[in-house]
Amino acid sequence: MFSGFSTRRATQPDAVFLGDMLVEAANWRAGGVRPRHEVLTSADHRRYLAGWKRAADEGLIAVGDDGVPVGAAWYRMLPQNEPGFGYVGAGVPELIIGVHPLWRARGVGRTLLRGIVELASAQGYARISLSVERDNFARNLYRSEGFNVTAEGLMRDTMVRRTG
Ligand SMILES: CC(C)(COP(=O)(O)OP(=O)(O)OC[C@H]1O[C@@H](n2cnc3c(N)ncnc32)[C@H](O)[C@@H]1OP(=O)(O)O)[C@@H](O)C(=O)NCCC(=O)NCCS
Repeated sequence: MFSGFSTRRATQPDAVFLGDMLVEAANWRAGGVRPRHEVLTSADHRRYLAGWKRAADEGLIAVGDDGVPVGAAWYRMLPQNEPGFGYVGAGVPELIIGVHPLWRARGVGRTLLRGIVELASAQGYARISLSVERDNFARNLYRSEGFNVTAEGLMRDTMVRRTG
């Protein structure tokens, strides 16, 4: 029923699909139903995508063999005065990842994660960070891919991985 998938670099016209994946990330919890418009305009989330694709933005799109995007991972440098949930310092880009619900648990997320770490390394970044709510299973995925918890909040943790 499912075909295979491959990855490619994200480009400016992928902004709409990245928006879909940002909504998936915001609504990760079963039953999460925050409407697209609300997520994409919220102060917490719009900073991860507004104005895509800026100079330092990079991303990967996972594409099914039929050419349809099925998942994405991207990173962005956020300033100290408008940090993301996973901000750890100047020069450390923050990662966002989401996979279409029908394509989850098929290796897309892990493939994207490995690819985006390689991309960050190739772009000269020594570290990459993310933020994850503590009860999201994705925390285990990140840990298994070399991310370590560097800060614990009430509900969410910041995780960082060295790219080298
Ligand atoms: C988190 C997410 C990106 C992972 O992508 P994915 O394609 O489903 O992940 P993979 O198929 O590569 O699976 C990675 C590992 O997680 C495990 N896993 C997948 N779905 C799982 C689930 N629902 N519960 C527990 N473990 C799960 C897999 O078994 C796999 O481990 P393994 O390699 O040891 O078998 C994707 O599920 C998603 O978009 N979730 C909603 C949005 C979200 O939570 N984003 C992250 C916010 S920080």
